[in-house]
Amino acid sequence: MGKRFHRVVAIDGPAASGKSSVARELARRLHFAYVNSGAIYRVITWHILQKGIDPGDSDRVAQTVESARISCRLQNNESRILIDDVDPAEYLRDDRVNENVSRVSSLPRVRAIVVQKLRGYAHHQDLVMEGRDIGSVVFPDTPYKFYVDASPDVRSRRRAAQGQRDEIAVRDQADSSRRVSPLVVAKDAHVIDTSHLTIEGVVSEIIAQLKRMGLRI
Ligand code: DC
Repeated sequence: MGKRFHRVVAIDGPAASGKSSVARELARRLHFAYVNSGAIYRVITWHILQKGIDPGDSDRVAQTVESARISCRLQNNESRILIDDVDPAEYLRDDRVNENVSRVSSLPRVRAIVVQKLRGYAHHQDLVMEGRDIGSVVFPDTPYKFYVDASPDVRSRRRAAQGQRDEIAVRDQADSSRRVSPLVVAKDAHVIDTSHLTIEGVVSEIIAQLKRMGLRI
């Protein structure tokens, strides 16, 4: 028999929709661990670039990822990812990673590895996990699924305010149109438009919905 999963609240949505801030605060309020699934794709992309591998060479990228040691743990209720014993956390928002992460994350062989790693987190603790396919592919059986969105204008302004150059429209297009596990609204997800809400407002709405669904908090 497979290992039992703990409870998982899935928060999916496009780039700069507010999902990281919401998911982190929600996890804090629920006393669940917080996992940012995009960070694993970013760690892998950083590793590929660091090794001088062309992100467009799908076979070489897949082989490299398959032979890398990727360790995903929970530390103080947050995930910590090491690749070949290196923790590249401080480089994950570099321009080069931003520019290449959609391409690397579109590869089925890369996704197969990441999905297994993400499921592994739920063997240890209750989780709030954010990403693109958490409710649709990684944990399709969790009843607690949310899809947060905001207008493209608001999202661009949020990234700019963080001082980041991130072509979110380009990434959205790539993330939504890829063949494997594209960004979709899971059919049973609760959709929340965060354009005119504060983080606190979104978190309160999600907690109210979770209580209505019978989640014991
Ligand atoms: O959430 P983020 O912007 O840090 O994610 C970086 C990239 O990783 C995003 O452009 C698409 C990919 N991603 C994915 O394909 N599936 C996920 N569950 C999370 C992220």
